[in-house]
Amino acid sequence: MTKKIGILTSGGDCSGLNSVIRAAFLRSKILGYELIGIRRGLKGLVERPMNCFKIESDICKESLLSQSGSILLSNTKFPLAANQKKYSNEECEKFAADGYKNLGLSGLIYVGGDGSLSIMHNILSNNSELNIVAIPKTIDNDVSATDLSIGFATAVEVVTESIENIRSTAISHERIMVVEVMGRDAGFIAMHAGIATGADVILVPEFKCNTEKLIEHVRGCYESGKNHCIIIVAEAVETEDLTHTVIKLDEENKFSRTIYQGIGEHIASMLKGYGFDSRSVTLGHIQRGGKTSVLDRIVASGFGVEAVDVIDSGKCGVMLSYVNNMIKTTPIEDVAKSINRKLSEDDICVHIAQKLGVYIGEI
Ligand code: F6P
Repeated sequence: MTKKIGILTSGGDCSGLNSVIRAAFLRSKILGYELIGIRRGLKGLVERPMNCFKIESDICKESLLSQSGSILLSNTKFPLAANQKKYSNEECEKFAADGYKNLGLSGLIYVGGDGSLSIMHNILSNNSELNIVAIPKTIDNDVSATDLSIGFATAVEVVTESIENIRSTAISHERIMVVEVMGRDAGFIAMHAGIATGADVILVPEFKCNTEKLIEHVRGCYESGKNHCIIIVAEAVETEDLTHTVIKLDEENKFSRTIYQGIGEHIASMLKGYGFDSRSVTLGHIQRGGKTSVLDRIVASGFGVEAVDVIDSGKCGVMLSYVNNMIKTTPIEDVAKSINRKLSEDDICVHIAQKLGVYIGEI
């Protein structure tokens, strides 16, 4: 009987997921495995067989390399139990483990971000016999143990291109344009796109924004002869008069989520109060799409083939990581227990922005 490997994508989508699926398919074929696609993330593993199908070459064309989203669909319903009400988190985790076993898999490629990894860690703690290889994906680039998560590079490209489009109107109207980007509690997207576009101000959650210094910096931009100003602000930035709300997602208080609420608009109106002509743009979910960048295609393809090799070698229970230009493995347990990555003052991009004279908040 042909051995089978399963693959699913979990959590918020991003670019590069389809490149992983294509690479995993090609490598599985070479090593003699069938690749079973599981639609809708962990929900699909629970609700079989309607969500499971054998991946064939006709859907794994080269065009997948550039195509955003996930042909396997994804599911952000999180946590599982909170959305299925009838069952506890533990019961849902057991259903997912049963799903793996019933499919007769030799291993499962689990593409997910920090939330998905912590669910998988819970599943594995009661089902250590499951052969899981996780692949980090998120535009936020905040998964620990890896320099890069799939989707980040493309998101930075999309933001960069958008800001270049916004700059022309900023110049014509001699305005301040405040551009709000995603990233949750990490400022990687803002910092990278900010440097790439020559932004005047980059505000990230890691470094507190001082309103007086911000205003002084913006005035300085105009005084130095510029006729406009670009401010990039990460969605989780807070000011003295704007804080975000944390909501509980389940009765057991295991999961919560912060709702980000309009920091870009808030800063633009604050600037109006100081006499500046300003507008805000929130880029939102366009950051999760776009033509997949070359870097994401390469890293995703590397992760896809390596995941199959790791399952074949039997050394599972790990997340693949991209460190110093190499693909490595870290136990899922270590990733789930460690805190998310954030920008630090030692980050190369932080140094570059500071040396360029960009206002990035107080370090
Ligand atoms: O984690 C990826 C991300 O795009 C964040 O940057 C953003 O805060 C969040 O997901 C948006 O989630 P949703 O699609 O559920 O609104």
